[in-house]
Amino acid sequence: MPNRTDAKTLLIGLLIGATVSVASAVYLLLTSKKSARNSSSPTSPPIRTGVESLIGNTPLFRIRSLSHETGCDILAKAEFLNVGGSTKDRVALSVINEAEKAGLIQPGRGDTIFEGTVGSTGISLAVIAKAKGYKCHIVMPDDQAKEKYALLEKLGATVEKVRPVSIVDKNHFVNLARKRADEMNLKADQEGNGPRGFFCDQFENLANYQVHYQTTGPEIYEQTGGKLDAVVLGAGTGGTLAGVTHYLKPLIPNMIAVLADPHGSGLYHKVKHGIMYSPMEAEGTRKRHQVDTVVEGVGINRLTRNFAKVEKGWLDEAVRVTDREAVEMSRYLVKTDGLFVGSSSAVNCVAAVRIARELGPGHTIVTMINDHGTRHLTKFWDDTYIEREGLTPSAEGLEFLDPPK
Ligand SMILES: Cc1ncc(COP(=O)(O)O)c(C=O)c1O
Repeated sequence: MPNRTDAKTLLIGLLIGATVSVASAVYLLLTSKKSARNSSSPTSPPIRTGVESLIGNTPLFRIRSLSHETGCDILAKAEFLNVGGSTKDRVALSVINEAEKAGLIQPGRGDTIFEGTVGSTGISLAVIAKAKGYKCHIVMPDDQAKEKYALLEKLGATVEKVRPVSIVDKNHFVNLARKRADEMNLKADQEGNGPRGFFCDQFENLANYQVHYQTTGPEIYEQTGGKLDAVVLGAGTGGTLAGVTHYLKPLIPNMIAVLADPHGSGLYHKVKHGIMYSPMEAEGTRKRHQVDTVVEGVGINRLTRNFAKVEKGWLDEAVRVTDREAVEMSRYLVKTDGLFVGSSSAVNCVAAVRIARELGPGHTIVTMINDHGTRHLTKFWDDTYIEREGLTPSAEGLEFLDPPK
């Protein structure tokens, strides 16, 4: 029989053993959690730094309804997922980086980024200016969707609203932005130092086209494995269309590059007939704007340096899209896909379907969702405004795209 001393020793042993086991288990649990926090598995995406790391490498996704309806793969680059909400983030970051490299601007000195824009580029510039330590001054026509001004102000940018006038007018928003930067630089030169201004000049600055050549084009090539039959894009500055086309065409010789153009823009005629002209320019037909459309961001009546990159021989086709078609397409995409797009993206989708129908089933068409519908709530997505323009949508499906046109 064990004596009392043995029993006591056994009990103490058991207690020590249990304590050590519990302590080891707790230690193991804690250290495994800590190491899981500190290291990423080989498949998890790396941790990035700063908002500028959330630009580019956007997904390419299949638009289910349009693909089903056409028998083609209609794929869209989800550019609305960029941190500033549009494809213009790429341009804003590239233009600012290039200006820094050229020694034109310096963070933290009170330097100001100036731009004339219909909104999206301004929002992207405002985001990156804050992230990098610059001020931002945006000159904009006063007829754009209200949420764009509000967003710019919330992002800390100075917003200067001006009446829409011709580009030859010194008060055109682009000319005014250039003038503001010049004024700031003159003052800095006179004073011998002080903060400087930088005019981005997205329409003429080729850093715009280059960033799409360096990033958007290669991403599309990689995401499709180079298997695509058409790329369909609108043009505001022309930077996206030019950069993507220049990258993809030499690699995929059979691919066609297509301009999607809203009515009122002169680019369609330029591509089809070599002359910049919109039928709305005909005397007595123009309503009030340079490019008379409810669509924002695409369409233009002058040849920019960025568009000139594809002017001669690079584009195979152009599709003109009416305001009605753009509005109907936007409402259709929400109804069938839950896809809430901005106006320029609706133009792209109309043109993509037209090209898909021309090519026939089995082809792959790549287009772009440039920005989200939330940026257009008080204009393109406002039923009262759309009704006033006589564009209240009524289609059930895609019959609004059926011939005759
Ligand atoms: C929303 C939106 N989509 C598309 C574009 C056209 O892109 P790009 O200027 O590269 O022709 C713009 C241009 O301002 C835009 O604001």
